[in-house]
Amino acid sequence: MKPSVVVFQSLSDEQKVRLEQHVDAFYFLDRDARRSETCQQALAQADGILTPGGYVLNESKLAGMPHLKAVSTISVGYDSYDVAALTQRRIVLTHTPGVLDDSVADLVLTLMLSTARRVVELDEWVRQGHWQKGLPVAQFGCDVHHKTLGIIGLGRIGMAVAQRAHHGFSMPILYHTRHAKPDAESRFAARQVELNELLEQSDFVVMLVPLTQETHHMIGKDQLAAMKRSAIFINAARGDVVDEQALTQALQNRAIAAAGLDVFHQEPIPLDSPLLSLKNVITLPHIGSATMQTRNAMVDLAISNLIQALTHDSLINCVNPQVQRQI
Ligand code: 8YV
Repeated sequence: MKPSVVVFQSLSDEQKVRLEQHVDAFYFLDRDARRSETCQQALAQADGILTPGGYVLNESKLAGMPHLKAVSTISVGYDSYDVAALTQRRIVLTHTPGVLDDSVADLVLTLMLSTARRVVELDEWVRQGHWQKGLPVAQFGCDVHHKTLGIIGLGRIGMAVAQRAHHGFSMPILYHTRHAKPDAESRFAARQVELNELLEQSDFVVMLVPLTQETHHMIGKDQLAAMKRSAIFINAARGDVVDEQALTQALQNRAIAAAGLDVFHQEPIPLDSPLLSLKNVITLPHIGSATMQTRNAMVDLAISNLIQALTHDSLINCVNPQVQRQI
């Protein structure tokens, strides 16, 4: 008898065929379907779950999934999953690192360039008919090339950003991580510094840390006050690595120049958020990995991860490898 798997992600025909060679798959692809009694019953019998990132899986939900052996998230981040509870129940959690690094890094550079050169604001300015002869100084942006980039969290995506910034824009690079990255220092002349030095010296501060208890609100009022008034803050990590209320105030008071944000405390961001009324903020709907090619690669990898976790002893891309499954 094949393992049963609940699937919350739409799959291509090829992906369905590959998955269903190994498991009995039950698909619940929209919000109503996921809230249905049928879905709850399927979860109560499920050996596995294949889901987009951000699926909240905690003790109370796990209590209704007594047969669960593996969860495959189509994301590199896994902050919405109670890893300790999964591990305690010997449930494997796998994720999709690597395949999305370049797409997210491209998006980070997009946010840096578009905030610095005020692309969204000036597009609107043209469409509203403000463009008369010449261009007033008031509409000038700031340069990116040769400016100092500070990366907080220099993992795979951070390295891809550093590569682009060093080779493409001649940017001096500072980084703040728990461990030194000699590879980044030799390849990109990057320099490891304490957080405060990075905040004081950087023209662009880029957040690329995973959301953990340690990184929750690691950028707050004091950290924003330490930044240059001309600095631009970029967040492509998770909304809660920054105190969003403090960030909003810093932007309103021009304590920093601008922000480019792909993630938020609440997603979708509420329409009454004061961030949405600020011209010096670009807000994107968590599109870091959102290209067809990359998302397909993530789904393909997540399917492989799940099949491995349910049918073979060897685990790949496992968040909690201490849970060795004996199938
Ligand atoms: C995911 C992300 O694609 O990978 C992550 O951690 O934040 C995104 O790239 C998104 O969560 C949808 O699965």
